[in-house]
This record gives sequence, structure tokens and C-alpha cells, in this order.
Amino acid sequence: MNILVIGSGGREHAIINSISKSNKCSKIFALPGNGGTELLAENLSGDVNDFELIKKISLKYKISLVFVGPEDPIVNGIYDFFKSDSQLKDINIIAPSKQAGLLEGSKDFAKDFMQKYNIPTAKHKTFSIENIDEADKFLESMSPPYVLKADGLAAGKGVYICEDTERAKNAVVEIFNGKFGKAEQVLVEEFLQGEEMSYFVISDGKTFKKFNTAQDHKRVGEGDNGKNTGGMGAYCPSGLINEELDAKIVEKIIKPTFKAINDMGAVYKGFLYVGLMIKNNNPYLVEYNVRMGDPECQTILPLLKSDLLELILSCCDENLENSIVEWEDKKSICVVLCSKGYPDKYRENVEISNLDKIINDKNIFVYHAGTQLINNKVYSTGGRVLNFVCISDDLKVSRETVIKEIENLNWKNGFYRKDIGFRIIDK
Ligand code: AMP
Ligand code: GLY
Repeated sequence: MNILVIGSGGREHAIINSISKSNKCSKIFALPGNGGTELLAENLSGDVNDFELIKKISLKYKISLVFVGPEDPIVNGIYDFFKSDSQLKDINIIAPSKQAGLLEGSKDFAKDFMQKYNIPTAKHKTFSIENIDEADKFLESMSPPYVLKADGLAAGKGVYICEDTERAKNAVVEIFNGKFGKAEQVLVEEFLQGEEMSYFVISDGKTFKKFNTAQDHKRVGEGDNGKNTGGMGAYCPSGLINEELDAKIVEKIIKPTFKAINDMGAVYKGFLYVGLMIKNNNPYLVEYNVRMGDPECQTILPLLKSDLLELILSCCDENLENSIVEWEDKKSICVVLCSKGYPDKYRENVEISNLDKIINDKNIFVYHAGTQLINNKVYSTGGRVLNFVCISDDLKVSRETVIKEIENLNWKNGFYRKDIGFRIIDK
């Protein structure tokens, strides 16, 4: 079957790598893909939100399955676009519906949803620009740190954690001034103490299966300092997970979420990723993501023993109940090599040579993100450039292996965090 994967990150390279191994896969197209996907798929240029273009591609290349990686096209309603078009409606598409996409697309919607279904989460209040004075008063009534969020999609960047009210009030103004795109509402949230965990499930709309857990490292600097990024690295499984916690997550968060989605009458076929804060072995929901995580996907998929494409197809056929999700009994770590300057200004189109020096080992994976291939040479095109992954029995060994590989590459324009997994490896 011909498959179209939408997106251009390390997540999409990892997805394409996994599905390309399935004997059900004939040809993969990537929109727009990157320098790594080009070796496994045909990259097509275009915007992931250009649904008319995606329609043309789907018909021209006789696509039978569309896998949507990033949140934007999901939140913009790509699932509904396919299902309401007579020529596209029979094409399988892995993307939650537009209504379900609100769980990630609107933080205010998501918080109301959590409250209505008694899902444990931080207390919050939402303010519009007309009642900005009330936001200030509310902040004065709280104790620090203050958590402020722009309501819409902000690629993980629309969140402030402020230590004093002055900064918090300024943040409210910055959000309304459009720092993260048009924001009609600001959320003020209680600060949750604890340690974060990314928890994944896959759903066919009728049932769900647990996928795996990971821990992302969002701050640019070692020891979790500095600005927020798209993610500097991750490891799997999360050191926090245990049977008791897993059961609580399923009962208190995952099951009520799918009940609520069902009550809304929304269709959910695809991955659900809940960002959790864990305190005293109890889960609190920080946010919903209606997709796989990046870089979590890159660290999780190398441990998947089951055929990813078969699993995806069982979601399309609403037959997930009969599928088994099997994992290697190993640990995995992913370190992201970034362009110097990221998440602020960085140079683009810098050649990356030496990729042939990476050891060819079945336990080492290099997934491209911001790269492109020109005349068989790889150039950087983004802030997060390459993902180095290693699986083994020991996270520390995996991390050392990955670091050695990055040093072998010796890309002068790059930097990375050497401490990914520090909470479990270096404690
Ligand atoms: P979000 O975009 O909602 O995932 O927030 C980005 C990051 O901000 C999260 O991964 C957390 O590290 C942090 N964060 C968000 N909300 C809270 C909260 N209520 N308490 C503590 N940290 C938070
Ligand atoms: N790992 C963060 C994200 O995918 O949003």
C-alpha cells in the first residue's frame, strides 16, 4: 500500500523508518519530510496545512493510508476534511477529529474538559483581554510560582512560569500582545510540584492500548535550565512508572478522557499523549497532545517489537482490541543535536559531513529532523537537526554510546545536552 506521512521532524523519520519495515508497505511519501526521510520515502514539497494539496497528492499517488505527525493539521481538521470529501472519505487517516483536536488546540477547552470529568489537574482560571484587571487581581491572590499560558497552539512555547507577580502581569500583557500568535484568552494556573512524564496510548475510536512512557527534556540547558525548546532529548521507559502508578493513570486520566471524547461524539483514531506531573506516585494532567511526542517517538519506537504498520491498520479497522503491543525489554535514550543558537537565532544550510562515520549497529539509530539532502550532501535547515538514539540494557551505557557518536560526527555548528536522563542516571 502507498502511505503518506505528513510532517518533517525526527518523529516522522522514526515513524517512516518503522513502517517501511512492514511487508504491507509498498511506497511511502513524505510531506515535506527531511534529509533522512528522503532515503526511505519520496519527499514532496508543500505545506502540512494545505489540505487541497494533500488531496491532490492522495489521489495522484493512490494513497491508502495517511499518517499525520504534527498537531497543526490535526487541530485544523484534516480528519474532517478527508471524511467530508467524497473522493477521500475511504482513505484511512490516522489523526483525531477536529473536535478531539481541541484537547491540544485550546488549553481552556482542555481544562474545562478535565474539570468536568474530574481528571486530576492544576486549578486554573481563564481571562480574556476585557477582564485583564481581574487576571491581575487573581494573580495577587495566589502564591508563587505563577503559571501562565496562551490559550492556542504555541509549539510548546506559550507557557510562562514566573516567580513574582510583576513578571506574571507582564507575561499576561505579552501573551495578549501576540507573542505566541493571536491569543484571545490567558490561563492562570496553580503550579504543580513533581516530576514530569510523557504517557502514550493508541486508540482506534472504540478501545485503546497502552503504548509506552518517556521523559522529555524541554529546557535548552543542562540541569533543566534556560529557555523552553521543542525537546532536547528523551529516554524510555520513564523511571517513574510502576504498576500502581500505571493503574492510577489509566483509571483517573485515560479512561475518563476516552469516556469524555465518546460523550462529545468525537472520533479518536491515533495516538494520545498525556503530559503528566507525578507527585507521591500520583498523576496530575498538565496537558493533552493529540499525537505522538517529539523526541519521545524517536526514543520509544526502536523498542517496539510489534509491527507499527499493523497496529496502525488495526486502528483504521477498529480492530485494535485483538492486537498485541510488544516491547523489547531494554532501555532507550535519544539526544538531540541542535544548531548553535537554538531556540533563538541559528544559522541554516550548514553542511553536515561525517554522517558515514556513524557506526552501523542495529541498536543505534540516527533520525533526521531539520535537515535536507542536496546532491547527496546533508545540510541543516532547522534548530533541532539530528536525533541520536541508542537502545541497551543500561541507560548510562546508551547515553555514553550516543555521545561518542555525536563526537564522531564532530559537527562544528552543533550543540547538545550531555545530561539527558540525568534524573534517573545520575541520581
Ligand atoms: P504545556 O505547554 O502546557 O505542556 O506546558 C509546558 C511545560 O510547562 C510543561 O511541560 C511543564 O514543564 C510546565 N508546566 C505547565 N503547566 C504547569 C503547571 N501547572 N505546573 C508546573 N509546571 C507546569
Ligand atoms: N515532547 C514534547 C512534544 O512533543 O510536545
